[in-house]
Amino acid sequence: MDNKELKSEVHNYWNKQTCGTQFTKKEKYTKEFFEEIEADRYSKEPEIIEFADFKSGNGKKVLEVGVGAATDFLQWAKNGAILYGIDLTPEAVAYAEHRLKLYNLSAIEIKVSDAENLPFEDNFFDIVYSWGVIHHSPDTPKALSEIIRVLKPGGKAKIMVYNRKSALAYIFWIKHAGLKLKWNLSVADILWNKMESFGTKGYTTDEALELLKGKNVDTIKIATTITFYDKLKRFNIFMQLFAKLVLLLMDSKKAGWFLTIEFNKK
Ligand SMILES: C[S@@+](CC[C@H](N)C(=O)[O-])C[C@H]1O[C@@H](n2cnc3c(N)ncnc32)[C@H](O)[C@@H]1O
Repeated sequence: MDNKELKSEVHNYWNKQTCGTQFTKKEKYTKEFFEEIEADRYSKEPEIIEFADFKSGNGKKVLEVGVGAATDFLQWAKNGAILYGIDLTPEAVAYAEHRLKLYNLSAIEIKVSDAENLPFEDNFFDIVYSWGVIHHSPDTPKALSEIIRVLKPGGKAKIMVYNRKSALAYIFWIKHAGLKLKWNLSVADILWNKMESFGTKGYTTDEALELLKGKNVDTIKIATTITFYDKLKRFNIFMQLFAKLVLLLMDSKKAGWFLTIEFNKK
């Protein structure tokens, strides 16, 4: 499958069900619908709030790449960002438009676009934020280069990608390969084939640094966070004990599913 076909797969997967929307049964586009999605998101992923630092967007030109159901996008808007958002799917863009309108908020622009070809001029944004998106895009290095291109000198990128050497990734491998005796498959194979949209990748801290090598960036900060997902919090106590064991065997500084990347453009 070439990158064009792969991107079409990614588009179709996320356009069918925007992430987060599976956690509510409330009527689509209502306040209750969005509020349930928000409560669910920040209870499972509270680390987003500190990482994003939505207040820092006040009065700044902020671009969110891959808005999804627009839960974080709404927080940027509430905090007074001069806001732009894109997503590969019309479904996500429609969520973002409805969501802001419900709160009488607005963005300068929300549109269907590709992270690998951002429709913005060079040196334009103070902040580019992207949570859980560019590892789904076939050419992740291109998406990263685009983020750097549209940032102003001194502007800040805040990105989260999945960590391939995390407790969750290993547990996922045990489920989809280990227990099925498919030991020839790697963790990367399993993420590619089984984690959300087809072609999902996970990176290690060193690989994330490598992606930034030679780029026009400094003050790089890469970290991993042990998440709700690594702890198998959705599952029963035995599964949670198993997750604890896996985590005990790992270096806790590197074992988290969320790999956050921050840097400034020089
Ligand atoms: C896991 S969801 C994350 C959405 C949102 N950031 C969140 O945290 O809920 C992945 C999103 O990335 C979008 N996406 C994937 N590839 C993309 C690309 N090349 N350009 C723009 N958006 C993309 C999908 O359409 C989907 O909405």
